[in-house]
Amino acid sequence: MSLREKYVKAARRQSSNNVDSFTSRWKSPSNIALIKYWGKHGNQLPINPSVSLTLSECATDTTCQWVRKKGPSNAIDLTFSFHGNPAPTFEKRIKSYLESITDLCPFIHDYNLAIDSSNSFPHSAGIASSASGFSALALSLTSMEDELYEDLDDDDDYRTKASYLARLGSGSACRSIYGKAAWWGKSHLIEESTDEYAIDFSGDIHDDFKSMRDSILIVSSGEKPVSSSRGHHLMEFHPYRHDRIEQVNLHLKDMKVALRTGDLERFGQIIEQEALSLHALMMTSTPGYFLVTGKSIDLINSIRAFRESESVPCYFTLDAGPNIHLLYPKKFENPVMEFIESLDSDTDVLHDQVGVGPVQLK
Ligand code: DP6
Repeated sequence: MSLREKYVKAARRQSSNNVDSFTSRWKSPSNIALIKYWGKHGNQLPINPSVSLTLSECATDTTCQWVRKKGPSNAIDLTFSFHGNPAPTFEKRIKSYLESITDLCPFIHDYNLAIDSSNSFPHSAGIASSASGFSALALSLTSMEDELYEDLDDDDDYRTKASYLARLGSGSACRSIYGKAAWWGKSHLIEESTDEYAIDFSGDIHDDFKSMRDSILIVSSGEKPVSSSRGHHLMEFHPYRHDRIEQVNLHLKDMKVALRTGDLERFGQIIEQEALSLHALMMTSTPGYFLVTGKSIDLINSIRAFRESESVPCYFTLDAGPNIHLLYPKKFENPVMEFIESLDSDTDVLHDQVGVGPVQLK
């Protein structure tokens, strides 16, 4: 039986507590992938495993208010606001997400649901919010399920269900459920790994990574010309798909060792290769496209020059966008700050760091 069948069966079997109204509120962070998820199949399943560090400052705070409907209903009654204002585009996406999981969470039909969400980072920063947004929402759904059914025996069960639900909203969101570091995707390197949800990977990493800094150099805050969803789909018939999966397997093996032993140099080589491979895959898709700009490349060159000349272990990575994530150990904060201050004054910077993961506020 697949995990979905198991969850659906459980959802049908349960008799619930009598809950007329319930409020859940979670603040959940974004994450930065060290090994990138790029390409998916089936229902939000990755073509390769990915590993990420969980951030702290870039987070979404989501409150879900559930009020039981008077009679039976098959409709989804949702109002969604963003920073207190109506947000029809987000509302549409959330509604179709909720529609896609009503077999897993049948209670969605029984309640009027009002969601209010806000991001701790400026919308204009060009930071993807799907990881923090869907993880916060999935945690709130999981809270409601637990309130109704009290079926999630422990924190592990709770996180697994939330990660599973988050993945169905946005792949990278399933990794944000865990503090410090997460691993998503079946690999022979980790027995309990699976494509269905992410697992906590914080136990296996050196202290240097637990306090790692991520300074995000904002290159552009404009709308992306090609969405991540489209990019994932372009991997289906990509000429380098096979080689990409081989590369990931090699990177995973070495990254696992580097994270455990604190091998910053190998860590840095891998994250930079992952970022450049990700963007090379975009450029060599059919049609090919660029999300990096000339400024992204200038910054990458400056980072490498600074690293060489000052012997400071700071390394870049990029998500599906032009912004540069500069990762470095806390103990190198001072020289890296000086370097960042020496950059173009029109480069906005968001300073973040590895964090403890989502926090329940209500
Ligand atoms: C480049 O998780 O945004 O950031 O599943 O379609 O929502 P969907 O995609 P998304 O893709 C993230 C891609 C990435 C790499 C990563 O985070 O692993």
